[in-house]
Amino acid sequence: EKEEPTYTIGFSQCTGNDVWRQDMLRGMQRELAFHPNTRLLYLDAKGNSQTQISQIKELIQAKPDLLIVSPNEAEPITPIVEEVYQKGIPVVVVDRKTASSFYTAYVGGNNYEVGKTAGQYIGVALQGRGRVLEISGLPKSSPTVERHRGFSEAISKYLGITLVKTFPGDWEKNIAKTRLQKNIAGLPTVDLVFAHNDQMALGAYEVFKEKGLVANTKFVGIDGLAGPLGGIQMVNDGILNATMLYPTGGEEAIRTAMQILQNKPFNKENILSTAVIDSSNARMIKMQTDKILTQQEDIERQQKRNEEQIALYQNQQILLYSLSGL
Ligand code: FRU
Repeated sequence: EKEEPTYTIGFSQCTGNDVWRQDMLRGMQRELAFHPNTRLLYLDAKGNSQTQISQIKELIQAKPDLLIVSPNEAEPITPIVEEVYQKGIPVVVVDRKTASSFYTAYVGGNNYEVGKTAGQYIGVALQGRGRVLEISGLPKSSPTVERHRGFSEAISKYLGITLVKTFPGDWEKNIAKTRLQKNIAGLPTVDLVFAHNDQMALGAYEVFKEKGLVANTKFVGIDGLAGPLGGIQMVNDGILNATMLYPTGGEEAIRTAMQILQNKPFNKENILSTAVIDSSNARMIKMQTDKILTQQEDIERQQKRNEEQIALYQNQQILLYSLSGL
């Protein structure tokens, strides 16, 4: 088999510490293991747009063949991404978007759809009546804007549902918690908390629990990540009433990147679909995702073993050469 050329992919991640982003990176690495000649340069902007701009510049210095970027906030990151794209370096945007169409491909969910699905679910769950508190992501990142728009549109069909307040939790459980703790006294009682991700929903749940308010409140989040710390588990544990699946798309991002690099046909928009996870299906989904996680671990172990075998083989070759005196 002909060896694949050597590629360098730069990856600028807006923030890297949460379980969702770690799942994305692991998916990327699993897919990259099929392309041993491709290396990934990874930088984590830790939720700071200025840092992300300078990290993208740093990645470009390394002359990558392609850039993958998940923009922390749309507007601030747009000019640098446009610059990279106009230099002729293909750009794959994942999850969060820029504010322009100067990119080669997008891989991620349809956040308007995700917000709308949540709103429709909430309308039914509240039987068309009730007060809702919304905890949003970082105000200027694209999923916040789109999720809020989809959600508002869906609940506006229910005249008995009021959105009492929307305040930002900036995607972070701890920020959501502190802001909620500060604000909760001034809020009317609410029937449901809708948070733009499961981590912030969990934060809200914890605050409500401290105040003895969980019994009469429903919690709905987004992400539906598998594993012990993910939203599927939270639905199973009765913490969340529901979560909207929002796939991390790590494998798909690398697959798209490789198609672009190898001049194969690819789609510009690669939209990953959403689904409601609630008590009616969470047990089944957990069984299936637990199984997938085990299989993924098997694949990772197998990939590691292959790498070790190759290294061993190469060492033996060196030994053979030196024994033969060549
Ligand atoms: C992870 C995260 C997810 C959310 C996504 C939105 O960093 O906050 O929880 O769905 O980013 O971009």
